[in-house]
Amino acid sequence: MFRKFTGRHYVDFLRDFHHRHALDWYLEIGCRTGRPLAEVSGPAIGVDPYFRLEGDILRGKPRLMLFQQESDTFFASDFLATNGIRLGMTFIDGMHLFEYALRDFMNAERNSQPGGVALIHDCYPFRTRHLTRDLDNLPAVWTGDVWKLVPILREYRPDLDIIAVDARPTGLLVVSGLDPESRVLHDHYEDILARFTTMELDDHGFDAFYDLVPIRSASEVADEGFGFARAVARDIRARAQPEVITP
Ligand SMILES: C[S@@+](CC[C@H](N)C(=O)[O-])C[C@H]1O[C@@H](n2cnc3c(N)ncnc32)[C@H](O)[C@@H]1O
Repeated sequence: MFRKFTGRHYVDFLRDFHHRHALDWYLEIGCRTGRPLAEVSGPAIGVDPYFRLEGDILRGKPRLMLFQQESDTFFASDFLATNGIRLGMTFIDGMHLFEYALRDFMNAERNSQPGGVALIHDCYPFRTRHLTRDLDNLPAVWTGDVWKLVPILREYRPDLDIIAVDARPTGLLVVSGLDPESRVLHDHYEDILARFTTMELDDHGFDAFYDLVPIRSASEVADEGFGFARAVARDIRARAQPEVITP
């Protein structure tokens, strides 16, 4: 049966990370209000076809770019490579159909620094209704079938370091050690779609699913200093803040 994650809320976990670290660069796919994006300290990019920003999301960031478009369109433009931008961390929280999330992962990895990090939201639903692929009847909490990225990445990319953190309500999959040269997912993309599109979590087996990657306490991962991002994050607790030049 489902396990409901009850650890530290994911926004709180991300805020703690971003108030201690900066990345060159951070990308968030699926931003809507900009709530986690607002907490980011370093240079950042947000992509969402439908922003509804709330409050000041620039804050102390040196650079912030927003793209009001779908992530596939954003990556197809090759904006990142054209501008010499390599990603340190990508937060994937856009379209919650697994093939979109998988493409977001593949595209993010291709544009990452070696050893970069991807955080994938909503891989741990706790009700059957969260899982639907019916875009005309979405529940208030919608994880879709993004959970499939856990078995897909575990099987096709054993070279990646993967843990889940028990951040409520639906977990964060933390994938580190990204390899921008890897072509494995690209080469197997059609096979993966053929195998996983109609798969249900019940078919996969709940116990087997929860055993795929280590599930860690979000609070403990934070208390230990977010070691998963060691290769790409720098400590910024003593950073200078923007100052008023003229009144
Ligand atoms: C769950 S919300 C994001 C929430 C935000 N990350 C947060 O934690 O507060 C999902 C967002 O994904 C966006 N979205 C849907 N399809 C997308 C796509 N193809 N590419 C990028 N974003 C997409 C939606 O417009 C929506 O704003």
